Amino acid sequence: MDLLKTLENIEKDAEQELTELDELKELEELRVKYLGKKGEIQQVFNKMGKIEPEQRPVVGKSANILKQKIENLINENQQRLEKAKEKKRLVAEKIDVTLPGNKPKLGRAHPLKVIIDEITEIFTGMGFSIAEGPEVESEYYNFAALNIPEHHPARDLQDTLYLDDHYLLRTHTSPVQIHTMEEQDPPIRIIAPGKVYRSDELDASHSPIFHQIEGLVVDKDITFSDLKGTIKLIVEALFGENRKIRFRPSYFPFTEPSAEVDVSCIVCGGEGCSLCSRSGWLEIMGSGMVHPNVLRMSGYDPDIYSGFAFGVGWDRLALLKYGIDDIRVLYENDRRFLHQF
Ligand code: DAH
Repeated sequence: MDLLKTLENIEKDAEQELTELDELKELEELRVKYLGKKGEIQQVFNKMGKIEPEQRPVVGKSANILKQKIENLINENQQRLEKAKEKKRLVAEKIDVTLPGNKPKLGRAHPLKVIIDEITEIFTGMGFSIAEGPEVESEYYNFAALNIPEHHPARDLQDTLYLDDHYLLRTHTSPVQIHTMEEQDPPIRIIAPGKVYRSDELDASHSPIFHQIEGLVVDKDITFSDLKGTIKLIVEALFGENRKIRFRPSYFPFTEPSAEVDVSCIVCGGEGCSLCSRSGWLEIMGSGMVHPNVLRMSGYDPDIYSGFAFGVGWDRLALLKYGIDDIRVLYENDRRFLHQF
């Protein structure tokens, strides 16, 4: 048995196989094949008992040298393959930074958003803050605390979406007045934009979900003149300086006195047209001096503090400002519509 010859053959095979290799995972197979516990070098050691005793040290030494040589070869080739693999990855991931990019499509602000941004800017400039309240309200906040009596028609199932005996979807943003007064001490200056809900059928001028912007100011010595001046500012900012404003006596349970605010028609300027039903005026909000009962229920002394409040139909402002005649387009989010703003 010529083990030296066997070692020579192993060496030749290993050299060839390792240098021809091009996959890292095959390297592991070759490691097992040559250096493993049942590998070819080990098999030579296993057969040493069967050869002449004086041959054993010679074969043993050659086998150890070859083992070391194959180990080195494996390590060298491992490095070679790893480098090649990394290079391949870099080539595959190469990005041409000079290629033109994909332009993301730009959205536009929704008309309601444009309006509230303008209004927010005016009011925050005057020291108001933006308040929020829950859309699910109790009867107390939506009605009772606003001085709306038990059998008032607004509490009717026909107008209000009740969730159970006590909770409902707020029908107006006025309950935010109560939350704010409960949470803060005067002076109060807030606006509260938000969604409101009524059990209306959807048509060109009604939507079961719509938007209002509530305003509330409470302090010592607040008068109706403060209310008028504030409303004048909003109207002028939204509809231009030469709009006329009219306060009409009205009734809301939570204000006394109460007034409905009209602006001169933005289409005909007051002459009379179909938009203003020939009256020359457009109704845009309800307002008034906060009712003493409301102040009292929120823990404020009406002999010390007074305030004014207003509630604007936010959607209506958008429809008027942009000359839109159907409220539904505000909710459909048709991009062709939204892109006009
Ligand atoms: N909450 C009333 C509504 O939904 C609007 C309103 C009127 C709010 C007068 C006010 C106000 O704050 O003072 O019809």
